[in-house]
Amino acid sequence: MIKQAIIPLAGLGTRLLPLTSVFAKELLPINGKPGIQYILDECIEAGIKEIVFIISTKKLMIKRYFYSDLFYKKIIKKKKDQRIIHEYKNILRYKKKIRFVFQNIPKGTGDAVLKTQKFIKNKYFLMLLPDDLIIKKNCSKAMISVHKKYKASVMASMKVKKDTVSRWGIYRYNKRLSKRNFIIDGVVEKPSVKNAPSNRAVIGRYILPRTIFKKIKSLKPGKGKETHITDAIQLLIDEKEKFVAHNFEGKYLDCGTLKGYINSSKVIGKL
Ligand code: G1P
Repeated sequence: MIKQAIIPLAGLGTRLLPLTSVFAKELLPINGKPGIQYILDECIEAGIKEIVFIISTKKLMIKRYFYSDLFYKKIIKKKKDQRIIHEYKNILRYKKKIRFVFQNIPKGTGDAVLKTQKFIKNKYFLMLLPDDLIIKKNCSKAMISVHKKYKASVMASMKVKKDTVSRWGIYRYNKRLSKRNFIIDGVVEKPSVKNAPSNRAVIGRYILPRTIFKKIKSLKPGKGKETHITDAIQLLIDEKEKFVAHNFEGKYLDCGTLKGYINSSKVIGKL
């Protein structure tokens, strides 16, 4: 059963400057809705009951977004506008499902995952990277089905242009299970074009086993002196943990760069 999700949100979002100078990138609107709400809706629709946010003291704005209700409560009571009341209740609905942990020094995704250890109760949990929006089809839901079917850890994936491999985690597979699912036998974080094992990239949705915590602890900092989840996954693969790459059906929108972020509003606006 996958009932818990974690979302790393401690990143500073420098790639989105100037928008992130005082603002948390995950709260920036995408076609009139804060980016994080797309991610939360995906989780909840996939059956997730509890979501752990990894934030930092610099990103306290995210916590305040969900905890402003004391201030708003009185004001909202007097409102007649159904849309406003609905949006307010929606935020409260999210709030009930969210817990917060802190990663005050940005030491990588692996380190962020480790901060959630004390909250994770089941054998497997979901992780979503908020820069990666996947629309039109619920990727988390599809991955949970893949996890159940193959009794394996799962990562979302897609083919990327060969000259962009150094932007992603890149994997190699050794077996095709079905049209969209592959058994991974190696994954490397942001390889050079020359050293990339393929042009198949990992996208920000993961179903990970709880055993990953131990592997993260054993890691030395990797690329850019950060602890990468990709490196911990490789350690698990070395120990024969089954990892399936799932080529998702939805449309991918990269909201982590300014160009991608601007484009995402345009695409969603046309739906
Ligand atoms: C992270 C992961 C990388 C993955 C990417 C997907 O990189 O480390 O393996 O391919 O997300 O968006 P980041 O975007 O944090 O640089």
